[in-house]
Parts: sequence; structure tokens; C-alpha cells
Amino acid sequence: MRKKLVVANWKMHGNLALNQQLLSAYLAQLSTLNEVDVVVCVPYPYLYQAQQILQNTSIAWGAQNISKAEVGAFTGEVSAAMLNDFGASYVIIGHSERATAYCESDENIATKFIQAQKHGITPILCVGETLIEREAGVMQMVVAKQLDTIINTYGASVFAKAVVSYEPIWAIGTGLAASGEQAQSMHEFIRNKIAEQDIEAAQSLKILYGGSVNPQNAVQLLAMQDIDGGLIGKCSLSAKDFVEICFAAAQSNATAQLIKF
Ligand code: 13P
Repeated sequence: MRKKLVVANWKMHGNLALNQQLLSAYLAQLSTLNEVDVVVCVPYPYLYQAQQILQNTSIAWGAQNISKAEVGAFTGEVSAAMLNDFGASYVIIGHSERATAYCESDENIATKFIQAQKHGITPILCVGETLIEREAGVMQMVVAKQLDTIINTYGASVFAKAVVSYEPIWAIGTGLAASGEQAQSMHEFIRNKIAEQDIEAAQSLKILYGGSVNPQNAVQLLAMQDIDGGLIGKCSLSAKDFVEICFAAAQSNATAQLIKF
């Protein structure tokens, strides 16, 4: 069984004092929760702070973007090697808030994905459709296209050491999460798509759900067969909510075990 993974995406929130409080509260309540992997993706300037507080604990840390380039004259960019300097083990790639605001192409996102892996950092690739696309019934086509650029360029095997996060754009920050069935259906589609080319990669791939996950809906979402965890925005800024979501992930593991035996 794939171990559940819960990732906090702080987006552009936080400051030194608040981060210290939040991370300490996470640690106080999550350090004994061995059934779930927990990661915090912080803004770049706080990577050092995250490293200082989280090293040698059960919580890993990462960033929210990287440059597609190795090194060079790219003002304002941050490379995968720089993330390594601060012990980051995950990076979010292609989040819709970046893809729309900074016009990221699927090609750019694919290059960033590989660049992260090249440096031993696990990419968390975000995919998902807009409300108009869902209403038009083309959501699977949209997500397939987002995956295809990577599959066609690098092969499906690269997903063996990656995370995909299904984040329907209409669910992000709206309080309107996808239902368990809607999310499961897309997660199954994603896993099957990878399995068409590489069954082992599809089996080990963790597929997270992101978009208005909260302590109330987490149990139902995370109990779905192909939902391996969550990418949490707003609720990661409250230690209480985030911890409850992590415990819901552990509980859904236990529920799955009960069903299995
Ligand atoms: P919310 O949890 O605030 O909807 O954000 C989801 C998200 O964008 C995670 O990357």
C-alpha cells in the first residue's frame, strides 16, 4: 500500500515569527504520526529556517517552484541545486497560480520536473482543469495533455519517483472541494494513463488531491482508493486544521486496511 503523503503549500504566507510557531506546533503534534509522510513547501526565503527547525525530524520541507535552468544569468530565479543546499526534498511544479499568472507552458513545466529529479528532489506536478473545462466535459482531455508533454518527452517511467497533485482550479481557495467521487475518478484516470506505459511507475506514483481540503472533508477524500494524500493551501496555515488533516490521512489508511482484511 502506498503511504499517505500530506503536503502543506504555504503559498506567499508567513514570516519568521509565525513560521517558527507554526512549525513548532506541527512538530509537537505530528512527530509520532508514523503512518503519514508530511512535507511543508515554504517560500524561498524561509528554506533556511525550515531546515533549521525540521532537520532530524519526521517532517520534510520543500519549495513552490524552481528554475528550469541549471545555472546562469537568470535574474530572480532559484535553481534545483540551490534547493539542495537547504535540504529541500520536494518542489511543487506547475501550480495553476503560477501557470496562469506567469504564463508557464507545459514544456517549461516538463523541464522543471526533470530538473528537480536530476538533483534528487521529488517534483509535485500539479494538474487540473478550469470550471469551464469541467462543465464542457473535457477535464480528462485537459489533464491528459498536461501529463503528455512529460510522458512524450521523458517517458512514463519518470513518474515512479514523482508526485502528481490533481488540483481542479475551480476548487482552489473557493471552499468548494471536489467530491470524493469526482476526485477518485480523475485520480484513477491519471494512474491508468501512466499504467498504459509503465505499470510499476503507476503503482508507486502518489497522486494527491488539492483544492479546499479541510478537516471535515479530508476523511472522505483521503479514503478513496487512488487518493494518496493531499496538497493543502489555506488549512496548512492553521496548525490545528493541518494536524487534523494529517490524522484524517492516517485514519483513512486504517480504514483501507480494515477493508482489505
Ligand atoms: P486551498 O487548500 O487553499 O484551496 O489551496 C489548494 C492549493 O492550491 C494547494 O496547492
